[in-house]
Amino acid sequence: MAIIIVAAGSGTRLGATEPKAFVDVAGRTILERALRSALSIAEPAQIVVVAPAERLEQANTIVARAAGAASSSLTVVSGGDTRQQSVAAGLAVLGDGIEIVLVHDSARSLTPPTLIEAVIAGVRSSGNGVIPGLPVADTIKQVDWMGSVERTVDRAPLVAVQTPQGFPRAALVDAYKTASDDFTDDAALVAAAGLAVTVIDGDPLAFKITTPWDLARAESLVAASPAAP
Ligand code: CTP
Ligand code: MG
Repeated sequence: MAIIIVAAGSGTRLGATEPKAFVDVAGRTILERALRSALSIAEPAQIVVVAPAERLEQANTIVARAAGAASSSLTVVSGGDTRQQSVAAGLAVLGDGIEIVLVHDSARSLTPPTLIEAVIAGVRSSGNGVIPGLPVADTIKQVDWMGSVERTVDRAPLVAVQTPQGFPRAALVDAYKTASDDFTDDAALVAAAGLAVTVIDGDPLAFKITTPWDLARAESLVAASPAAP
């Protein structure tokens, strides 16, 4: 089993002076927290960190500090201009014998290890793609380009999806070989290639740090929880 942690984004919406993965959340970087969560699941994994090309040294330092005596293997590779290219760079270095691959956003820094384990278990038992999702809390409107409301969308069947997203390795690798470059997540990409994808219960702690407001929320959650990664 392998976990690809994509951390090569620049974090434009966060607006920090560092690329997002290297921004501090109450004493540990976003990347280090995501890594610590992945390293604390029960089974050993091949963990691939996809970092900005100009930050490989810094990423390696963080990886070495987080790894400690962990039995998982860790690899750092350079990412690409888009998230999809970064995932592809991670897929390219998977070892032999890996049958299940999870793709995880470093920016979902506080993801509990239990959610990672649930995704792995789901892929193993179903052979499908498995992704975490949460019910949509707000009422959803469809609007036109002027902002006029056209209709209220029935939100009952809608879920907001998170990562880690897990797949059988062969299906994910094959889907990436033929994918166009406009998918917003890996599940959409493998679904377009014909793999069934199942949603399991997500976790509010797996929210993505996108804006300064999210960073502030992550900082207060860490301050309140000794169990935070
Ligand atoms: N990501 C990546 N390579 C890219 C773009 C994104 O590895 N070229 C990763 C990010 O590091 C992040 C995850 O994909 O962990 C989700 O992306 P997002 O939250 O959009 O991060 P950024 O692209 O860095 O942020 P922004 O869109 O605000 O610039
Ligand atoms: Mg982005």
